[in-house]
Amino acid sequence: MLQDCFLFIGILKKNAKKDNFRPENPIGIFDSGIGGLTVAKALCERMPHENIIYFGDTAHMPYGEKSPHAIKSYAEKITAFLLEQKCKLIVIACNSASVTAFKNVEKMMPRQKFVINVIDPVVNYMVDETQFTQIGLIGTKRTVSSQVYHKKFKKKNSEITLKSLATPLLAPMIEEGFFNNNISRTVVNSYLSNPHIANVEAIILACTHYPLIMPEIDAFYKGNTHIVNSADIVSASIEKFLIKHTLQNKSKAKGRQRFYVSDYTDSFEKSARQFFGRNITLKEQNLWQEPLV
Ligand code: DGL
Repeated sequence: MLQDCFLFIGILKKNAKKDNFRPENPIGIFDSGIGGLTVAKALCERMPHENIIYFGDTAHMPYGEKSPHAIKSYAEKITAFLLEQKCKLIVIACNSASVTAFKNVEKMMPRQKFVINVIDPVVNYMVDETQFTQIGLIGTKRTVSSQVYHKKFKKKNSEITLKSLATPLLAPMIEEGFFNNNISRTVVNSYLSNPHIANVEAIILACTHYPLIMPEIDAFYKGNTHIVNSADIVSASIEKFLIKHTLQNKSKAKGRQRFYVSDYTDSFEKSARQFFGRNITLKEQNLWQEPLV
């Protein structure tokens, strides 16, 4: 079984090496659900000629509550699908998957380092381009308990104090379409009032769903705390990467975007339109015909 798996990854890598790395090939972006569309949207605005394939694993969301074993196996399956679609670069547009499965996804890539996560670009931005030393962070249980941001900040700048809080209700709440209303304001206020993350100069939205509740977060801080939206930072880092490897799509035509989810519902499609900022159609692609063993 394990041997078969290695053989499969080997064949995949060999084939992909030949024709995945062409500028006109799509960028593969995935998330546990539709939150990663915030990254896809920022990327489309920045690089409108790029072709994009988005995969939202709505059947298994929220990842933030899942075991590392489960998240790794979901991420591997999705990566195999995106490589079959000849993606030239994979973007893990999910913090929970980035902290858990980055190495697994990297191993599957025919070219080393052709995977971008949502954590390193944010840590680099905070350290290299801002002066903040009192930083707050909200994210899923998985992201916060991994302490990945703490470890990365510590390595780069020991003067930074990071206060983090798990806010597990937020992603499902947003995915269900609860934002910009009284319920989302109440939940946000209740989490952010926690003394554990008091007195911060900046707050990192360490979940790709959270840009949708930026107005509520900004209202809580009355505009006095810098809100770090990873979607913009990650899309800038994707652009830099493509330029460095001369892999930007030179076509003059507008890029084509395809959106897949592992479980389709009307409510996902409705929320997806709000995440992406325009009318999009989700296609169901069930990669899990058989249950996980
Ligand atoms: N969008 C995911 C992230 O950035 C969180 C949602 C989930 O728990 O699945 O971590």
